[in-house]
Parts: sequence; C-alpha cells; structure tokens
Amino acid sequence: MRFSRYMDLCLYDPEFGYYSRNAQPFGKAGDFYTSSDVHAVFGRLLARQFEEMWRALGSPEKLEIFELGPGRGLFAGDVLDWSGKKFPDFFRALRYVLVEGSARLRERIRTALNRHLDAGKAEVRESVGAPQPASPGHEVPIIVFANEFFDALPVEVLSEQGSLRIDTRDGHFVETWSAPSSAELEFLDRYSVHPEQNERVEASLISQQTMDRIADGIRRGFIIAIDYGYTQAEQLAGRHRGTLKAVRQHSISADVYQAPGEQDITADVNFTALAAAEQRGTLPQKLLTQSQFLMGIGEANQFADAFEECSLPPERAKVALQLKHLISPAGMGESFHVLVASKGIAPETVASLSGLSFGQTQVVR
Ligand SMILES: C[S@@+](CC[C@H](N)C(=O)[O-])C[C@H]1O[C@@H](n2cnc3c(N)ncnc32)[C@H](O)[C@@H]1O
Repeated sequence: MRFSRYMDLCLYDPEFGYYSRNAQPFGKAGDFYTSSDVHAVFGRLLARQFEEMWRALGSPEKLEIFELGPGRGLFAGDVLDWSGKKFPDFFRALRYVLVEGSARLRERIRTALNRHLDAGKAEVRESVGAPQPASPGHEVPIIVFANEFFDALPVEVLSEQGSLRIDTRDGHFVETWSAPSSAELEFLDRYSVHPEQNERVEASLISQQTMDRIADGIRRGFIIAIDYGYTQAEQLAGRHRGTLKAVRQHSISADVYQAPGEQDITADVNFTALAAAEQRGTLPQKLLTQSQFLMGIGEANQFADAFEECSLPPERAKVALQLKHLISPAGMGESFHVLVASKGIAPETVASLSGLSFGQTQVVR
C-alpha cells in the first residue's frame, strides 16, 4: 500500500487507529501538547482576532467558525467562553462548528461543550474524508480555523528510489519503492525539492486537496492554519528535508512502523504547497510566525486576556511563563507558523488586522 494509506490506517482506522482508540492523546498524561494545553490565552487571543475579522466583514448578523480537527474541543471552549464574556455582539452572531473525524473525540467534545451545544451556539460534525466547510453557495461568512490539523493528514514519502510502498513479509513491515506518479513529481517540482541520495521528502497531496476544497467552499471569509512547518525556500537551503516522525509520551522517534495505532505519526507542514492550494479565489497573506501573530493581537492591551484571573504576583508570574512559551523562539513562537487567507474582502482591510500587523514577514515561496 501507499505510505499515505498506511499512515491513514495507523491514525484513523475506526477500530485500531491512534485517534480512534486513544481517548487521551493530548496534554501531560498523553503524547503531545498543543497551544490550548499551555493556557486559555491562545483561544482568547484568537477570539479577539475572530471578532476583528467579523468587523472586517461588516459585522454580519451571522458568522460561522469551522474548526477542523478540534480534538477534544479545548480551543473551541476557550473561544466561546471568552467571546461570550468580552465580545457580546460578535457572540450573538457566532455559530461554531467543530469538524472532528474521530468518534471518540466527538464524544469528548459533546461533554466538554455541552452548555454551548445545548444553547445551539456550537455543533459537532463528523467528517468523511476531507472536511467541507459549507455547501457551495452558502451565504453566511465563514472563518475556517485549523490548529495542528494539516500535520496530522497522511503524506506520501519519496526518495531517489521512487514513491514508498509498505508491504509485509513474515509478519514484518517491509518498504518497497514504486515509480512516482506524475502528481508526486509535479508536487516536488513546484513546492518542494527532489530528494538526494539517502534522503526522503514528503509530498502532502492530501493536505493540498483538502485546502483546495475548503477554499472552494467559502464565498466570503478567512482561513487560518497554524502548524509547525516550512517553506520550499527553507528546503532549498537544506532544512526540513524529511520531517516524518512518530510521537509517543512526549518523545519523538523516526520509527513510524513501531506499534501501529499506538503512536502518533506526523509530518511538518509544507506551507508553500498549502498557500498555493489556497489560492483558488483566496488571497493568502505572507507567512507569519506564531510569535508575530500573537504579538500583533495581544500587544495593544499588553496581553490583558492572559492575566484576567490573576490577583497574586505568583499567579501572574506563572501565566507570564505560559504566555512566553507560546510566543518565544525557545517555545512554540518560531517553530509554529500562521497562514491567513481571505476571500471576498478588500486587501487593505485584511492587511490592517492586528494579527497581520506585527514584525517582519516571510514570503511563502
Ligand atoms: C494533532 S490533533 C490537533 C487537535 C487540536 N486542533 C488541538 O490543537 O489540540 C489533529 C486532529 O485532527 C483530527 N482529524 C484528522 N483528520 C481529520 C479529518 N479529515 N476531518 C476531521 N478531523 C480530522 C484528528 O482526529 C485530531 O483530533
């Protein structure tokens, strides 16, 4: 089978896949942290940015946020709670749709967000294949949000020998190589690099198709994709060539064949390819680091969203450290990137969003 099929089974097989059988992949007790595990300020700052986007859209009566791969719904809870508290007009217009592929995680979302679900503010949707934000012709403006979603989509692996296939022999997995498809070769030509001897690179064709469909399904709105990843320019400079890895109990391994279904498998996101797929009628902005994006949103009120509940100095110090982890280069600030695209909105309005207005940007090429 193709490597992407192997990765898909390991992660999403309804019975044995990592995200189906594992109710606790996230946080300290699980295998990895995401930004919402660090502190609610991540969701709160994004709520602030979503509210600004709503105003940039002309404060419409209705707005839908589609979150792709929301996991347990931690981020959605932070956004809904903060919006309800701080941005009542925006909250009135908002409907929040969580598109989650894992039945087990959908159950966890139903428990975590039951107040918002009962109130009709939120809805959980199952996705079959690539998530679709809306039916074509959908009039309500949409914001599509994806945090650490694209890195969890299956990839193809290519080497000088061709395109990777997985087979079994005597009860063990073996790797074989087939001639690459024209789509794979075109992907390497346009968005990545051709692997040199003893090198492997990934082709994220499924991510591209997914982004294509998402961009197609929006008439007016925004797409925000946050993930760890790279650009083609960085690959040409010799970095991020072969980023496939397995993650288990907060440690990383290169052996993606060990304990299938018990460890996460992930590949860094090729933002050059993702931005190109977005271009179908959308306007991708320059790629930002998470640090630039969050600094842009939070600097005006000195990150008051983080410190709201802190009354004692030690509490403030603890929250300051958590905020630092989200923003500093030593934490998640530089390894995570933010790709924002817009559709049907004046470019100068988009450019003035606070999240896009901080620091130096990097061209996605
Ligand atoms: C790495 S987790 C990120 C979870 C969450 N966004 C966070 O930041 O904590 C990836 C999530 O994407 C979901 N997922 C993967 N493919 C999907 C698809 N095609 N449709 C919907 N969800 C999907 C997985 O089930 C999992 O919950």
